[in-house]
Amino acid sequence: MSFRAEAIRPLFPSLSFPTDDGSLPVFLDNPAGTQVPRSVMEAVTQYYMTMNANSGGPFATSQRNDEMVQQTRRRMAEFLNAPSAKEIVIGPNMTTLNFNLSRALASLLSPGDEVLVTRMDHDANVSPWTLIARDRDLKVKWVDINAADCTLDMGSFEEALSVRTKVVATVHASNAVGTINPVAQIAGMAKAVGAWHVVDAVQSAPHVPIDVQEIGCDFLLCSSYKFYGPHLGIMWGREDLLNSLPAYKVRPAKDIAPNRWENGTPSYETWNGLRACLDYWEQIGRQYGEADLPQYQGARLNMKRAVVAVQDYERELVAELIDGLSSIPGVKIAGIVEPDRMGLRVPTVAMVKDGKSPDEIASILATEHVYVWSGDYYAVEIMRSLSRPQGMVRIGIGHYNTREEIQRLLNLIESI
Ligand SMILES: Cc1ncc(COP(=O)(O)O)c(C=O)c1O
Repeated sequence: MSFRAEAIRPLFPSLSFPTDDGSLPVFLDNPAGTQVPRSVMEAVTQYYMTMNANSGGPFATSQRNDEMVQQTRRRMAEFLNAPSAKEIVIGPNMTTLNFNLSRALASLLSPGDEVLVTRMDHDANVSPWTLIARDRDLKVKWVDINAADCTLDMGSFEEALSVRTKVVATVHASNAVGTINPVAQIAGMAKAVGAWHVVDAVQSAPHVPIDVQEIGCDFLLCSSYKFYGPHLGIMWGREDLLNSLPAYKVRPAKDIAPNRWENGTPSYETWNGLRACLDYWEQIGRQYGEADLPQYQGARLNMKRAVVAVQDYERELVAELIDGLSSIPGVKIAGIVEPDRMGLRVPTVAMVKDGKSPDEIASILATEHVYVWSGDYYAVEIMRSLSRPQGMVRIGIGHYNTREEIQRLLNLIESI
């Protein structure tokens, strides 16, 4: 059965929570955070009722907590096709985890070593590296974008790499213009010069099946509040690296992966929510998964099939959105727009319209209860590269959005 948004919408209570005037809101702010299914909310409540305790105690609530921790890691390993649950580090958000990682890697680097960052990345995968460069006298190399279609300039990538490159930090899918980058190819290029490759998969995780083994990177980070779960960040890293790198930790905490990267007491209630979110993805795969993926079995297969099913649906929707926007006078879209290249982007579209600033457009849409973002959304460099000092309007489709919602948005933009 092909995926249908109408079938899963009733599972998300906030989608039917009316606005002040009784209409239903249209959530197209998904790249900034998604709504969650009821099962995620209930899992957080259930945590407080049945397992609210710190880790490592001999009593029932603590033991239930620790069992949940194992399950959540295992589910997350399945989602990313990680070889082991010990490679799943969970923290408050992606940015905090990446700063922890950069601080640990920095202690192994010497003046003159190089870190490579791109002008497509969210600042959460830029500043952790430029700041260690400042502190340890490292050189920062920048990879540019091709402004015409907002793809990475792979020529500038080749040029930026050298034998001194120690870290290559790249975004999998842009949070601004939606471009999907060839991260497996980049992982190969990083490996060839002996650099660690850090992938920011925050915006790809809800839309693109992720397989860390297939990509071949060293670290990959994402955030569950972007894929219909609670506010948490997840870092996958190779087990040998997670065990051997000098993680900053307090002395009594366990000195094994992944615990040595998880400082302090986590918000375990949200971990139970993450577990429920991953159960939701598996359920979507069971119900709608059709893709032939012989390399996966069991839960891993269902989760991959789920993302493929959602991806197929979202591609149709984003093609309609781009087509509709392109026919409105005065609208300009940044990024990939050709119908036959929809496979190279996630359904996140940055646009402007003559005569109104991005903030004004977002505010007008907000009064009609259509939620979109404006500004640079921390993708600072790409807005500079595109000469957009006021940023752009960002419309981000999620799997619960419908054709009717896209039409409502297009009508409003046309009328502005
Ligand atoms: C591409 C990308 N990377 C990183 C982040 C930061 O994630 P977090 O809020 O979990 O720190 C975001 C947040 O929007 C993002 O879109």
